[in-house]
Amino acid sequence: MENILIIDDEKSLLDLLSVVLKKEGYRVKTCLAPTKVFDILENEELDLLICDIKLPQISGMEVLKYVRENRPEIPVIMITAYGSLKQAVEALKAGAIDYILKPFDVEELKIIIAQELEKRRLKEENILLKRNLQEKYSFENMIGKSKAMQEVYSLIEKSAGTDSTVLITGESGTGKEMAARALHLLSRRGENPFVSINCAALPENLLESELFGHARGSFTGAVADKKGMFEVATRGTLFLDEVGETSPWTQVKLLRALQERKIRRVGGTEEIPVDVRIIAATNLDLKQRIGEGKFREELYYRLNVIAFEMPPLRKRTEDIPLLINHFLQKYCQQMEKKMKRIAPEVFNYFEMYAWPGNVRELENVIERVVAIEDRETVTGASLPREIVFPPKKEIRQALIPPNFNLMTHLDDVSKKYIGEARMLSGGNLRKTASLLGVSYRSLRHLIDKFGLKEADRLEREEASAEYKPQL
Ligand SMILES: Nc1ncnc2c1ncn2[C@@H]1O[C@H](COP(=O)(O)OP(=O)(O)OP(=O)(O)O)[C@@H](O)[C@H]1O
Ligand SMILES: [Mg+2]
Repeated sequence: MENILIIDDEKSLLDLLSVVLKKEGYRVKTCLAPTKVFDILENEELDLLICDIKLPQISGMEVLKYVRENRPEIPVIMITAYGSLKQAVEALKAGAIDYILKPFDVEELKIIIAQELEKRRLKEENILLKRNLQEKYSFENMIGKSKAMQEVYSLIEKSAGTDSTVLITGESGTGKEMAARALHLLSRRGENPFVSINCAALPENLLESELFGHARGSFTGAVADKKGMFEVATRGTLFLDEVGETSPWTQVKLLRALQERKIRRVGGTEEIPVDVRIIAATNLDLKQRIGEGKFREELYYRLNVIAFEMPPLRKRTEDIPLLINHFLQKYCQQMEKKMKRIAPEVFNYFEMYAWPGNVRELENVIERVVAIEDRETVTGASLPREIVFPPKKEIRQALIPPNFNLMTHLDDVSKKYIGEARMLSGGNLRKTASLLGVSYRSLRHLIDKFGLKEADRLEREEASAEYKPQL
């Protein structure tokens, strides 16, 4: 539960806000007499402060200044009367995180508060996370604290200590290239080049000359000797992206390069030793490709020395708020826009959606929203239609199991709680009802409905039979 302190000289306003915010689940303190405020500020646990600019005795600006100097971790929102925008701007300059104009919309204030507290929480979590993962080692751009991502980080760290070939699998947009770069930076090759080549983007003969280089005159247009990526990446890492889509012939040549650690340029005669670490990536199922005769099994085993899979976003939905925040910050900064707020419903849409394009798709959605949304708050209306009303297959299935029935599910939940409350209250129905927050009558009704009375009686009879004293 977060603690909010509100300072204002209008008692009615304090009362109203107090009720509204308590309903939202915050612990609320109010303060009418600003002379006492320094005491409170010094001694109380506080997560957010809301303060009127115009106060008797001490000004709101003084309070703000005090907080910035003595409790800089507490975000401050100022309340100011309509028409005194100049003061509001001064407050922002003095370190307030936001202001609201009186008379204000309570809903808007709720969103501002929720967002600020969320930001604060993320910041704290991120600091913790970074410390845990020793962020100095380059995971800094990879966002995600889910268990699945923690496993990825640990695998990256482990494989960075070796020089073995690594195969990274995973759906499109899950961060395979990002993981490869992190692995490279962490490895002893980290200061040497990381060379990335997309094997699916080039026709066979061009790809071959890109990878292995060519000798002058080996084909029309080869006017000079040219180094291939295997040589450019010397002492560094060569990232073979979309390796599953290489042609059979290229696969043969790759296999030879990996086995012999030597290459020959196209049209060249010299054998050139290579010193590179190979990381390959694919979003195809290579085992299946082998079955179909489209991928060489020997190459698969050469690449698959260490392997890990990047988890799809729908399987790590707890990372979604972190990613939203990260990309929002990135694009607001890039486009020089004021940081936007996110209405709570947006998180729901994002968590329900299946994200077939994974992190890349989420990043694109946020970029687009920042570019075209002029309002300060991102709501469901700012989102592309396919996120709010996704085609059926793009809704995450996890929440609703097959053959689900809401009514039966609710009954099961009710039965479970009634059972637990009855145990806790030693079978006393009035106590049970009060534990469950329902009236005695409703409880009786439910017990009848679920046939729990009978079960109760039988149990009691059995129990008394068991404990009958032996004569
Ligand atoms: N964990 C993450 N944290 C932050 N950004 C991420 C993360 N994972 C992916 N991204 C971003 O998503 C985009 C896609 O990442 P990347 O290119 O590494 O994915 P990929 O798996 O190689 O995709 P593809 O299979 O389509 O090539 C990039 O812009 C990257 O910065
Ligand atoms: Mg990629």
